[in-house]
Amino acid sequence: MKKGYFITGTDTNVGKTTATVALMHYFKQQGKTVAGMKPVASGCVMQQGQLKNDDALLMQRYASLPIDYALINPYAYAPAVSPHIAGQHNPVDLNTVLAGFNRLQALADIVLVEGAGGWYAPVNQAEDISDLAKMLALPVIIVVAIRLGCINHAKLTYQAVLHSGLCCAGWIAVCIDANMLNREENILTIKAMLDAPLLGVLPYQERADFNFLAEKFDGAMLC
Ligand SMILES: Nc1ncnc2c1ncn2[C@@H]1O[C@H](COP(=O)(O)OP(=O)(O)OP(=O)(O)O)[C@@H](O)[C@H]1O
Ligand SMILES: [Mg+2]
Repeated sequence: MKKGYFITGTDTNVGKTTATVALMHYFKQQGKTVAGMKPVASGCVMQQGQLKNDDALLMQRYASLPIDYALINPYAYAPAVSPHIAGQHNPVDLNTVLAGFNRLQALADIVLVEGAGGWYAPVNQAEDISDLAKMLALPVIIVVAIRLGCINHAKLTYQAVLHSGLCCAGWIAVCIDANMLNREENILTIKAMLDAPLLGVLPYQERADFNFLAEKFDGAMLC
């Protein structure tokens, strides 16, 4: 059966891409074919005549099959600012995103879609990431950066996902702060607070080892 997840986070720069690419490795280890999608990206850099983004390039690199860059990242903006500002001359059309997603779903067993910023980050003048996720109607995984303030941000994001009428498949703790005090207690507090499973705790790593991180997921919670 074709499946997929929408990966959101408590903010920008919280570990969404690390978690998404680790999940790609996990599903490949399970014998599934996998594709990633970063529909909207700001801060892209011109490479071989095309604006490209590091997140989407990682997804292209670790997909189970060769996939055209533009299919992975249909909206690639150069300025490192919110997409609703960066994309004023080529605004995000959610129907284009959905069409691309459907093409990817035809190619792979599992498609993982990474949002941009957090749940209510605007993607154009009228819509935000929650609208994009609703359009794709995928179960949502919330990436929580384990750092000071994470408990509040985790609960806010979880409630916002439910408010959007989508199902939360679970959350992933990403330990991005090497000096975080009481890391375990924070994770346990969020675990008790959210009515969604903890899918995995990704430890702090100076440089991501995706095969190692892929072993940190609870297989019983992912299918
Ligand atoms: N397990 C980890 N250990 C240490 N640092 C990490 C870990 N995971 C992510 N980071 C670092 O945190 C930063 C943000 O990670 P990442 O790019 O995955 O976030 P993101 O939420 O995808 O960001 P964006 O909103 O730009 O897409 C990066 O510098 C990354 O190297
Ligand atoms: Mg990212």
